[in-house]
Amino acid sequence: MFKNLRLNRRQALWFGLTTLAGMGTIGGHKFSSLAQQIAAVSSSTNFTAVGTNSLRQRAAAKGLIYGAAVRHKSLASNPTFNKSFANECGVLVPEWDLKWATLRPDINSFDFTYADWLANYARNQKMLFRGHTLVWHDSLPAWFGQKVNQSNAKQVLLKHIETVVRRYAGQIHSWDVVNEAINIKDGRSDGLRNTPWLKLLGPDYIEIAFRAAAKADPKALLVYNDYGLDVDYWEDEAKRSAVLKLLERLKSKGTPIHALGIQAHMEARTTRFNPSRLVEFVRRVAKLGLKVMITEMDVRDTNLPNDPVIRANAVAYVYKDYLSAVLKEPSVIGVMTWGLSDRYTWLAEDGQPLTGAPVKPLPLDYDFKRKSAWYAIASALDQAPKR
Ligand code: G3I
Repeated sequence: MFKNLRLNRRQALWFGLTTLAGMGTIGGHKFSSLAQQIAAVSSSTNFTAVGTNSLRQRAAAKGLIYGAAVRHKSLASNPTFNKSFANECGVLVPEWDLKWATLRPDINSFDFTYADWLANYARNQKMLFRGHTLVWHDSLPAWFGQKVNQSNAKQVLLKHIETVVRRYAGQIHSWDVVNEAINIKDGRSDGLRNTPWLKLLGPDYIEIAFRAAAKADPKALLVYNDYGLDVDYWEDEAKRSAVLKLLERLKSKGTPIHALGIQAHMEARTTRFNPSRLVEFVRRVAKLGLKVMITEMDVRDTNLPNDPVIRANAVAYVYKDYLSAVLKEPSVIGVMTWGLSDRYTWLAEDGQPLTGAPVKPLPLDYDFKRKSAWYAIASALDQAPKR
């Protein structure tokens, strides 16, 4: 049953235990037998890709885009990382430096120091520049709650959008105009999150934002971006339905919205990923005349054993499963990972794996070397139909 498997005893034991515990899958794969499951992430499994082309080159060869989120600090402080980023990424998304908290020292001023640095870097490296994000409930500056009220909120919002979008007009590929406006658990019939913007301006804040962004940069692709849309689980299903209804409402009003951003923050241990369910959702979004971008993909490998091979392959499997499904869809125009290297991932600040090992969610390892996840993404891009 286990012939040709080069598993060490620890790996076999772990899989024996987890399979008995009913985990039953890795990366969403429903394996028919323990042998298949063990083979899937044993040391004998490796993810490969033809040639040495970068992810940026492989995406471009198919008429797709690939890039990553990055902070000014990481690019400016590490020349080796800087070189890797320029080589692998055709799109740069500021992970932090275009958010209100860093752009807005106070209600009457803007500080574009780091955002300009990133915009210039992207231009010099002939990369696309993605704006993230104009309207969000998180990372608002401390003065916001004290100085923004129902009488000035619309003016504050319009001034922000007009000033920021005009500054990069003509360079920005796409803007995450509104981020994470849906939250099922807030209990509203329209599924909207109870954000400061909703409280200040009502549900129309979303349309107001998109119309202001379109006026400031008619060429930019305007995106609604959200997470928790990926797996076969009641909350994701409810959220997919609420997002579709929001997009339908916006389109019915003629709102200038062009794409949905699916963040795709995934778990290596997921047992609920069902590609056909995700593809069905992507097709329903496309039927509204919208494009789709995978905007923030990473695969958290907490709750897995410390074995580096098992963890690396479990992460790679999720990238493979997810991207080989969605990249077949013509409406999907690109993939961004939320970071490029395990050395710079928000997940490291978001709680260590139970095993205490550092989290490893991204295509390059801590030393900027390509790893199984990179090969899984490369292979999915290579196999995607050309646009
Ligand atoms: O730069 C300051 C530093 O000067 C200061 O000393 C330090 C003190 O805490 O904060 C630093 O800023 C942090 C910033 O990341 C840059 O590192 C903020 O506190 C921290 O809140 C911020 O976290 C970011 C988070 O969004 C909130 O904006 C993460 O890096 C970023 O990965 C995460 O990204 C979000 C997307 O925007 C939306 N989708 C979900 C995704 C993950 O949460």
